[in-house]
Amino acid sequence: MEQPPEAIRSQEGQLSPFDWYAEMRAEDPVRFDEQREMWDIFRYEDVDRVLKDHDAFTARRTREDNEFSSDAEDDTGMLQTMITADPPEHNRLRGFVDERFQPGSIREYQPRVEAVTEDVLDALAGEEQFDFVDEFAIPFPVTVIAELLGIPAERRDQFKAWSDALIARPKNGTQTEIQRIQQERQQARQEMSDYFTKLVAERRGGDGDDFITLAANTEELSREEKVGFCILLLLAGNITTTNLLTNAIWSLEEQGLTDAVRTGAIGRKQVIEEVLRYRSPVQSLNRIAIADVELNGKQIQAGDAVTLWLGAANRDSEVFDTPEEFRPERRPNRHMAFGMGVHFCLGAHLARMEADVAMQQLLERFDRLDADLSNLDPLYSLYGLKSLPCEVNRTASP
Ligand code: HEM
Repeated sequence: MEQPPEAIRSQEGQLSPFDWYAEMRAEDPVRFDEQREMWDIFRYEDVDRVLKDHDAFTARRTREDNEFSSDAEDDTGMLQTMITADPPEHNRLRGFVDERFQPGSIREYQPRVEAVTEDVLDALAGEEQFDFVDEFAIPFPVTVIAELLGIPAERRDQFKAWSDALIARPKNGTQTEIQRIQQERQQARQEMSDYFTKLVAERRGGDGDDFITLAANTEELSREEKVGFCILLLLAGNITTTNLLTNAIWSLEEQGLTDAVRTGAIGRKQVIEEVLRYRSPVQSLNRIAIADVELNGKQIQAGDAVTLWLGAANRDSEVFDTPEEFRPERRPNRHMAFGMGVHFCLGAHLARMEADVAMQQLLERFDRLDADLSNLDPLYSLYGLKSLPCEVNRTASP
């Protein structure tokens, strides 16, 4: 993974990432970082251009520099999934599934997502205090993906354990701990890969409406690519959604807006869009130049790596009024939290629906939902929190 520069870590005495972005947008919007040997790009217009210029910038990966996509690629070895493919190859890898992630199809999944939300909340029955990240924001999206992939209920715990191993981060950072986590991650990947290989073979020719059957029956993908697709859904759709949910509860508490959303004075969908902009779950993406390009007066050469700071673009005052303020009512809200161009997030509509259903049920189930913001420990560059302690009162008759 590309470590975000020290300066963006919000430790005491250091700049917050958002202060750093503001400084960079104003003073050095396209800059070469000698230490990381890559370009950093901060303004909306420039990020937008790079993401849409598939002739000059590739999503193929040749450097270990981005957690978001490197995990996906490690899993499938050298094999490409859509996230690291360029057009026209990209279209082959994504085309078979695009329709199933459009708003119409996503609406059909809503009852199943509602049922998953109820189950995850039922597991919290009787608790007056819980960690929102561990007890809700992590298990909820994993279970949704398991449901949509058609993972049998009795394998869900195993599935969750694999997912936990994939997202585990060292807590104390000792060499032994890092090695253990890497080994467990490797093992989880291998087991998952074996498991999906088996399911893809079993479901070939079947008529189920799950994503494994869909992949199994397409002529477009090789067997390994089908397995890669299943693993990509798990990797791309989980921590990101975990962070959106966490950042939503964090932002509502911080802004004192929880009750306004509960009463409907502020729409949930608008809140979700503003959280995506204001605390973007994916703060940065990476590309590699495949042609010489001039960008904002700087000469980027073929072979150069670039980091596109979505979190900075989403607070660019050229595009957003008062960008440093959390304002759910802003319209339009042209954030690029889901990226731009052909790689625009496949799961964007699903993630939005998951967040909407989750927020609705949380606010129905608890007539008080207080998040404790006294000891926040943000994670970058997939931006969220390690934990978010909450105190709740259960609504008398839901
Ligand atoms: C791509 C963000 C949820 C599946 C992306 C990209 C971003 C993103 C920024 C572009 C990557 C790039 O250009 O290199 C998010 C955020 C989410 C979220 C912020 C939640 C709030 C999901 C979910 C799924 C998903 C729930 C699937 C179930 C994908 C896939 C791609 C992708 C497959 C690759 C698309 C392509 O390369 O054509 N996502 N994502 N994402 N996302 Fe999401």
